[in-house]
Amino acid sequence: MYPVTLTGRRITLREFRDGDAPAAHAVLGDPLVTRWLGFGYADLADAERALRDTMDRARRDPRTEYHLVVTAPSDGVVGLVRLWLGGERAGGIGYAVRPDRWGRGYATDAARTLAGFAFGALGLHRVHASAFPDNVASLAVLAGLGMTYEGRIRDDALVDGEWRDSLLHSVLAPEWRAGLSRPPRSGAVPPG
Ligand SMILES: CC(C)(COP(=O)(O)OP(=O)(O)OC[C@H]1O[C@@H](n2cnc3c(N)ncnc32)[C@H](O)[C@@H]1OP(=O)(O)O)[C@@H](O)C(=O)NCCC(=O)NCCS
Repeated sequence: MYPVTLTGRRITLREFRDGDAPAAHAVLGDPLVTRWLGFGYADLADAERALRDTMDRARRDPRTEYHLVVTAPSDGVVGLVRLWLGGERAGGIGYAVRPDRWGRGYATDAARTLAGFAFGALGLHRVHASAFPDNVASLAVLAGLGMTYEGRIRDDALVDGEWRDSLLHSVLAPEWRAGLSRPPRSGAVPPG
């Protein structure tokens, strides 16, 4: 499916376009972000190369990746999200928000909007995500999605020369649908 634009409560998810590299670099080029991911853009040129590849992959049919820009009306580009498909109606999600926009509910809104798209339009059965054990903010996002902890992936990422474990979580389509009928947790936005 291309192009995709998804509307959340306060954010919009859209395809990358030419000229997005500086904004994307402000997210995935910031060590405050990349220390929680284990990857990122080395510099602006690296971001430009990576985004050209992203835009090529977005137009492939079948499409196996939805790497989208998160925008907010008063804050511009605030982050990036990614859904990658693999396995039997399964996918993984990831998200990052630029540090000067943290704590405004953008990741929660963006991740819920993307998961809603995965279970809705794409008909997935399972969506998973993982976070380092000390990534309190990300674990809160996963809890807000109604995800269940599945287990610890040992030495999942190498960050600054140090191996990091990850905590794997998932939510299944029936659980997601059941969650749609429940009121959101305090501070969480309704599922999109
Ligand atoms: C994780 C991240 C995306 C959260 O973005 P955000 O827009 O600030 O998140 P939200 O404002 O939606 O907050 C989500 C939850 O985390 C909590 N939170 C946010 N920052 C926090 C912090 N520094 N410490 C503790 N909790 C925090 C919020 O209170 C909220 O919890 P609630 O739903 O129980 O109220 C952002 O911190 C980030 O980009 N980190 C680096 C990249 C990363 O870790 N990506 C995920 C990899 S698995």
